[in-house]
Amino acid sequence: MRTKEWWQEAIVYQVYPRSFADANGDGIGDITGIRSRVPYLQELGVDAIWLSPHYPSPMLDAGYDVSDYRSVWETFGTLEEIEALIHEVHDAGMRMFIDIVPNHTSWDHEWFKEALAYPLENNADIPSGARFADGPWARYHLLRGRDGGASVPNNWESVFGGPTWHQVNDADGNPSGWWYLHIFDKSQPDLDWDNNEVRAEFRGHLRFWFDRGIDGFRIDVAHGLAKAAGYPDCPELVEGDATAKNPYWDQDGLHDVWREWRAVADEYDPPRVFVAEAWVQPAERNARYLRKDELHTGFNFPYLRAPWNAPRMREIIDFTLAANAIENAPTTWVLENHDVWRSVTRYAPIIGRTEAETKANMNLELGREVNWEADRDLEVGAARARANFLSMLALPGTAYVYQGQELGLNEVFEIPAEMRQDPAFITTNGERVGRDGCRVPLPWSGEGDALGFNDTGAAWLPQPDSWKKLHADAQSADANSMLNLARTALKLRKELSALGGITDDVEPLVWDNDVPADVLSFVRPARLGGHAIRCVLNVGTHAVTLPYDGSVILKSDESAYSDGLLNPNASVWLTA
Ligand code: GLC
Ligand code: CA
Repeated sequence: MRTKEWWQEAIVYQVYPRSFADANGDGIGDITGIRSRVPYLQELGVDAIWLSPHYPSPMLDAGYDVSDYRSVWETFGTLEEIEALIHEVHDAGMRMFIDIVPNHTSWDHEWFKEALAYPLENNADIPSGARFADGPWARYHLLRGRDGGASVPNNWESVFGGPTWHQVNDADGNPSGWWYLHIFDKSQPDLDWDNNEVRAEFRGHLRFWFDRGIDGFRIDVAHGLAKAAGYPDCPELVEGDATAKNPYWDQDGLHDVWREWRAVADEYDPPRVFVAEAWVQPAERNARYLRKDELHTGFNFPYLRAPWNAPRMREIIDFTLAANAIENAPTTWVLENHDVWRSVTRYAPIIGRTEAETKANMNLELGREVNWEADRDLEVGAARARANFLSMLALPGTAYVYQGQELGLNEVFEIPAEMRQDPAFITTNGERVGRDGCRVPLPWSGEGDALGFNDTGAAWLPQPDSWKKLHADAQSADANSMLNLARTALKLRKELSALGGITDDVEPLVWDNDVPADVLSFVRPARLGGHAIRCVLNVGTHAVTLPYDGSVILKSDESAYSDGLLNPNASVWLTA
């Protein structure tokens, strides 16, 4: 049997520092605020926290535009404070991941400022597509444009909309004919990972933070680092053809970097750990990031993107387990993060539309969703989010919880355009609503205008009125709240060894096919002297009589299950 490592079946809680807790009252969360809430996280029962970027940054992509990898954004606090946080998290019996952003720096990073100050050649003989890699430009990707430099070098499209290329001005402030690559915002120039100096510098960043005691890194855009040689145009995407490959995603060359990083993590005792943010299909390609000498785990985005549809959910659970099994790597489970709509809102049917029409409007990636102004039935959404939360926690492997998910928060759309900050909103002139709606400051209590986020009432994004009832204090006092459900579920998951646990010697999960197609029913076999557990989730529209006589361990709400009858949009854990 495989020895159990903590990261193979942990609960990891994502802290988004800007919006978690604000100690000094300037409307932006900070490290002191996080430190004050460590006991809350401990009581919730999480095993580790993952902190979204805390680095100095012009904040043009909420800190995923890093200008100094070895320091702390002064609005968040100081290096001493983050070191204190690491100690306090450890003292509370938890682990800590931080984020690292290797695909690009901010345009405020020293390296990029040096590059911009570097004299460029400009004459009519330079062929389009030529690369300029002198001096500091060797660390980035600078290409000669087409049409004598006047147009973009190729057809690549940025994740936030518009081309991936931005033209640099010459010393006189005129267009230079040279364009740098930015897969994300123009303030996020991509690094060249074929450059050894870039590689060495980042190994140094890893050690800098490992030496300060962090247990691991969440790696931003882990599928983006290598670009196809010659920067070929993107092939036209053929619908249904998963093999059509975008020349800047999932290139084979990047795995070399992960082997180097793994070696650095393994220098430490205990070895440090990585979790990859890789949006890669099919799942077998994704599993290649988890080879023995590469990264330990990666996010399960197919699972996050699953629609409210039982056969599809089951299919995704099966194929992600199977793909990871190829590399003998644990699976992970995630339903929310700072890039996607809150699950309550995603699962909420649009009022007056069929389920199918609701689904057709969901494209869960980086705020691309449409129809955000439609009226949704958030009550049904909340019931589904609770039900699926229990189902997620019953699956084998590590599960991620995004701050506020334990409160059942909804996506916030009531944000005035001038307060919105997501570059996806700004670059597309509001055509994409963007991701601000899942980044609204947390409601902690009924106190003050910012609901306990601070005591001045300032908040960088406004909280909706409906959160006056959803704050953590109110939910603590309500036995049936989402918060208390989450606390109980997390506690049970730890106690009942069949949940969460992974083993080599038994099937991790066995489906029961004796239930209607709208129902997911699976058993997690007993392990280490524990007992087997069945999880049943009703994704359909009618209550279903279950053929089981096991006793109830936990149900998604008070009325979810009684006398063998499981309500729609509900789930239950039974002894099996
Ligand atoms: C990742 C982050 C996202 C960010 C992007 C660019 O997808 O999760 O928030 O905008 O990378 O760094
Ligand atoms: Ca603050």
